[in-house]
Amino acid sequence: IISPIDKLHYKSLPNAFVYVADDGLIKAIHQLTPTDAPMTEEAFLRKVDHRGELEKLHLAKGEFLIPGLIDTHTHAPQFPNLGAGQEYELLQWLDNVVFPMEANFKDVDFATKAYNRIVERVIDAGTTTCCYYGSLHRDATKELAKIAHKFGQRAFVGKCNMDRKSPPYYIERTEESVPHTKELIKCIRELSPSKDGSPYVYPILTPRFAISTTDKLLEELRDFADSDPTLAIQTHISENPAEVAEVKELFDYLSKPGNPITYAGVYDHFHLLRGNTILAHAVHLEEKELKLIKEREAGISHCPTSNFNLTSGMAKVGDMLDRGIKVGLGTDVGGGFAPSILRTIQDASIAAKVVALTSPIKSPDPDSFASKPLKIATLFWLATLGGAQVCNLEHKIGSLEVGKSFDAIVVDIRNTHRHSHHQEVSPLNPNIWGVGDDLELGLDIRRRNDGEDVDDEEKLKQELDAMLERLMFCGDDRNLRRVYVQGRWIGGTEHRRRD
Ligand code: GUN
Ligand code: FE
Repeated sequence: IISPIDKLHYKSLPNAFVYVADDGLIKAIHQLTPTDAPMTEEAFLRKVDHRGELEKLHLAKGEFLIPGLIDTHTHAPQFPNLGAGQEYELLQWLDNVVFPMEANFKDVDFATKAYNRIVERVIDAGTTTCCYYGSLHRDATKELAKIAHKFGQRAFVGKCNMDRKSPPYYIERTEESVPHTKELIKCIRELSPSKDGSPYVYPILTPRFAISTTDKLLEELRDFADSDPTLAIQTHISENPAEVAEVKELFDYLSKPGNPITYAGVYDHFHLLRGNTILAHAVHLEEKELKLIKEREAGISHCPTSNFNLTSGMAKVGDMLDRGIKVGLGTDVGGGFAPSILRTIQDASIAAKVVALTSPIKSPDPDSFASKPLKIATLFWLATLGGAQVCNLEHKIGSLEVGKSFDAIVVDIRNTHRHSHHQEVSPLNPNIWGVGDDLELGLDIRRRNDGEDVDDEEKLKQELDAMLERLMFCGDDRNLRRVYVQGRWIGGTEHRRRD
């Protein structure tokens, strides 16, 4: 079992049991001692099902459990665009690529078929909690919420509010936007809860971005948000320089003498910047915006794949972490060209390295995250507990701890052929060297400096650490054998589809 503790630490339990009860919550995690033999060579997942029977899953060497990955920002109706229109910057890309595709989701039949496939795809990428933007359409977005619920994925689902600077074929009337949003929220809140009474799917207010909403609509959204402080909010912020310039121009009337309005200031003016707000991108924030975001306790969705792909820039994640701002990861499909948080981890690492390489000033504080590569533990944390904080669900998800929900992935990095009871499954990922086969080498790279052998327990821990690193940097869907949300097996390479 590998599970994050904080931004700098995670725990690796080589020989352990997880007990998951019928309500999907983790009842116990036991680290076995050597005297518990003969079980010491394996980790166990043990699930007590509704008949009180034990369903047991043994994990062999090369397999391990991690908490489910959390995608704090993606656009469900942009999945058909994956890999298309990749040479644009943001504003031209929206006009030429995004809006024409999203407009298709007016057709509820098409949307339903597409969302079934899309949600399955996201689950199989290991995302157990996903913050989805829908299109602007109420009815299609209802289907998205119902489909996530049907598959048992934990999700936030919102329809875009957009009543200006959008093409005539893809824009809503101001007076429809909030009423349609309210209908969607009502529908989502009526979906049945999970076995511990908590929802799987949460509604989320989704003003597309400051440019696409009129003042009148922003005022209505402000009043509505004020009336429901528990309602989460997601939007985009400071992704691209041309976008930032346009926001400042549109909202210049909010500037005060000597104090020009900022992008974050616009959202704050309309009461949309609060502890349950998720801000995607945050690439070009100014000092006073960072301070304001910290003060309001809003969270950031770091979307490095998209930020590179649309030539938006690199968010200064290390600096945000130093300031104590909440940060998680987002795939931002279709700005990002991969629906996988594993891929996002890899790009978050590269982004931090490029920031470090190009930043002339390094903090003298050795504990600072700014202008340095992100550590393995920090990247793992961003993809799990960091995302949970951004979603304000840290009490429930993000790590494998007693009392939390069993949202988890059975990872398999063995590079060997194997069989399940039903079918041959060969998720062979040739980029990961043959763990568990006769060419097994390389997992003991962290020998002690003094050359002395470490004890067996320590050796197993080091092997697990090495496996996590392999997964994070070379892993993909092929390595995700089973995906669980609240104790329910919902996806992964070994899952047999439900039709
Ligand atoms: N800003 C406004 N809409 C979008 C969108 O769909 N994707 C991204 N990346 N940025 C946006
Ligand atoms: Fe986005």
